[in-house]
Amino acid sequence: MSGLLKLMPVLFLALFIFSASGQFIASINCGASDVVHDLNLITWTPDNTLISNGDARKVPSINSLSTVLDTLRVFTSRKKNCYSIPVTQGDKVLVRASFNYGNYDGLSNPPTFDLHFDGNFWAMVKTTIRGVVMSEITYVAKGDVISVCVAQTRPGQFPFISALEVRRLDSKIYRELDNNRALLLSSRVSFGATENLRYPYDTYDRIWGYPAALLDTVVRNDLSSVDTTKAPNNPPSEVFQTAITTDNSSEFGILLATVTPDNPIYANMYFSEVSSLSFSKRVSRIYYLGPRSDTDRWLTLPFSPPYGSVLVQYLYNYTVNTTRQIYMCRTQDYYLQPLINAMELFQISEVLTDGTNSNDVIALSLLQSKFDVLRGWSGDPCLPAPYSWDWLNCSNDATPRVISL
Ligand SMILES: *[C@@H]1O[C@H](CO)[C@@H](O)[C@H](O)[C@H]1NC(C)=O
Ligand SMILES: *[C@@H]1O[C@H](CO)[C@@H](O)[C@H](O)[C@H]1NC(C)=O
Ligand SMILES: *[C@@H]1O[C@H](CO)[C@@H](O)[C@H](O)[C@H]1NC(C)=O
Ligand SMILES: *[C@@H]1O[C@H](CO)[C@@H](O)[C@H](O)[C@H]1NC(C)=O
Repeated sequence: MSGLLKLMPVLFLALFIFSASGQFIASINCGASDVVHDLNLITWTPDNTLISNGDARKVPSINSLSTVLDTLRVFTSRKKNCYSIPVTQGDKVLVRASFNYGNYDGLSNPPTFDLHFDGNFWAMVKTTIRGVVMSEITYVAKGDVISVCVAQTRPGQFPFISALEVRRLDSKIYRELDNNRALLLSSRVSFGATENLRYPYDTYDRIWGYPAALLDTVVRNDLSSVDTTKAPNNPPSEVFQTAITTDNSSEFGILLATVTPDNPIYANMYFSEVSSLSFSKRVSRIYYLGPRSDTDRWLTLPFSPPYGSVLVQYLYNYTVNTTRQIYMCRTQDYYLQPLINAMELFQISEVLTDGTNSNDVIALSLLQSKFDVLRGWSGDPCLPAPYSWDWLNCSNDATPRVISL
């Protein structure tokens, strides 16, 4: 009996790691030389076998954030430098890139540069003197390799990268997303939480942060566990341990988001009632603040968060033509102010490129296999324009051709 008891924890751990390994496509610790296992049970591999260009650097210990974020790879040559990661075509991938400048070069000059994925523009990365900058994107892989590139855009500002993570999401997660667009994460928060939550609590290693300054009232769930099995997007049950509400003097309820006209948004809002309510019910709806004459001021029907389980409200492809604030408020005839447990806010990208003409891509890789000097170039050869590989020129078509070498 005692032998069995001793075995159990080991067995559990092994099952745990095994069942999750499918989600972990890559955890790359850029600029590192050794494998690192972190406190979240994530195994990080160094990047020296994945990329030949760039220099490994380390931030001074005074600016240390974590073992993984303290090393980086900086690129002082080439228009763009790319990491290529094998996936399965059709995988829904979550890709997260982290940048910790930490004054590694002693110049107190955090660079700004561009980030690309699979030949698409992803983001302009503005690094800061202190702290990490992260970008996260989710999309369906069109091929069996994905690429993430950094590209220099300003003289003397050399792109670098500290960590690159690729996770596989179940295809049912964010099911509203079509296969030809990407979701760019704006925020993912667990209201009332006091620390970040990620793997192993979140199966897919999504990071649930918390708002820095909270004006609202935090409330705790009576229940130690909430049934999330039927909830869309498989949120971790831990995010339902806390929620925020607002006091009765609040006229508008809770401010959920400020939306600008730049891109359509996708918002997922997660609700679970925190106490069993006998006769008064909490009924809320989501609306935007606008002129009274606006007919589509209400964005949802009235709803009540269920006790012990989860309700998700979402807005997909919501666009505004002037900056608007989205609120949640109680409906008039009920006492209790609204509550919300968690929220994810994304921008929906433009239609993604299919990349450079596929015959040209095949011809180039044959060429690369014959000439050593051409190896080490990866990512899309032409896209996004004008960030082609340095040794070729491309046409300006939507599906570009290589026109000269
Ligand atoms: C708001 O007022 C109602 C009725 O007076 C009360 O039951 C409720 O607890 C109040 N809510 C808050 C958040 O103060
Ligand atoms: C959003 O809606 C507009 C107008 O209906 C449509 O043209 C566009 O393709 C939609 N975008 C997405 C991401 O579904
Ligand atoms: C903004 O969109 C609304 C409908 O969604 C439309 O009635 C209004 O004319 C638009 N305003 C501008 C300035 O385009
Ligand atoms: C690409 O085009 C530019 C401008 O026409 C030219 O100067 C350069 O030599 C070309 N590069 C290659 C690799 O053909």
